Amino acid sequence: MDMSHLPGYEKVLLVSLQLPHEKENEVEESLDELARLADTAGARVVGRVVQRSRRPDPATFLGRGKVRDEIAPACRELGVDLVICDQELSPAQVRNLEEALGVRVIDRTQLILDIFARRARTREGKLQVELAQLEYLYPRLTGRGAELSRLGGGIGTRGPGETKLETDRRRIKRRIAELRRKLEEVRRHRTLLRSRRQKAPVTLASLVGYTNAGKSTLLNALTGADVPVEDKLFATLDPTTRRLVLPNKEVVLLTDTVGFIRRLPHHLVAAFRATLEEVTEADLLLHVVDVSSPDYPARIEAVDQVLASLGAREKPTILVLNKIDRLTAEEPWLVPADRPAVAVSALTGRGLDKLCQALNLLTYRASRAPAGKNNTGRNFR
Ligand code: GTP
Repeated sequence: MDMSHLPGYEKVLLVSLQLPHEKENEVEESLDELARLADTAGARVVGRVVQRSRRPDPATFLGRGKVRDEIAPACRELGVDLVICDQELSPAQVRNLEEALGVRVIDRTQLILDIFARRARTREGKLQVELAQLEYLYPRLTGRGAELSRLGGGIGTRGPGETKLETDRRRIKRRIAELRRKLEEVRRHRTLLRSRRQKAPVTLASLVGYTNAGKSTLLNALTGADVPVEDKLFATLDPTTRRLVLPNKEVVLLTDTVGFIRRLPHHLVAAFRATLEEVTEADLLLHVVDVSSPDYPARIEAVDQVLASLGAREKPTILVLNKIDRLTAEEPWLVPADRPAVAVSALTGRGLDKLCQALNLLTYRASRAPAGKNNTGRNFR
């Protein structure tokens, strides 16, 4: 099903609301990330507008005056095709904004869903994305019957006396149930594979990290795997597992996972549960951090939160401080002291030997420590 909202190089305007409890730099950082997401989706960002407000307007999200006097003229002047809002919009807000601006309006969730839709490669990834899209769309169908033709079907599928909307809703509901069933099958198959792996005397390690941290590059560097590496967000949507033999001959099965991001839409967390389960089944985690990004502490925190929601926060973890080749000086890194940390460059290979040593030590500990026990902080720098 083609539901892509962004056929190449659309001109987009980013909009955001800054509420009283939010700091200006946080709102800007989030918008920077939205700009990168838009770029990943193949759009061209031509401007951004932030409004400070006490609360969102229930009808238009941003203030009506702001929409009429500033955003609408900006859209006309800049030839904007699409407005993307950094916060989630209600269906009514989307409709009202589209009416007031005369261009299409989507929110962050829809943009991320769009990127996921373009990037999913395996059958499982595609099923997961379609399910997330439909679950997002379903409650938003009311009153938008005319636009649903792009969901396929329509003429000829209608029963007597039924509106198109009802048929669409029923069809989507059926498809959601079908997707869930198919995913359940994939999941059973995956559990089987996993239990086979667990029987083998190997350690299972998962690479986790904020999107673009360098997980795929690290997996390639450590194992020679051929995982696509791109300077785009969410290049990896499907887990890939590779064998790594450590210096002490211990075998580790390393799995790459989907990149995390702040405010990952909950539809996606739910849809990608099967993929994320790899994380919960792992004996240990490699949490990859791009230390060349100025807000990396906040990203560590964001990843930790997702891990906590999966119940995997207490797993033995190594913080892999990646991209040190980009740092000019040997500055001391500020990292949580509750886990071992190793500084590496997945690109140049620097520090990978230390990482393998740390893995050796941790696999040794993981095979002996009682489950769930936290390991002490130590730096392998
Ligand atoms: P997602 O699939 O979005 O989760 O990304 P990822 O974490 O798998 O990142 P990926 O390996 O695709 O790398 C993202 C970008 O960072 C690519 O352009 C890499 O070349 C670059 N990169 C990765 N590691 C390093 C590094 O050690 N140094 C430098 N300079 N760049 C790196």
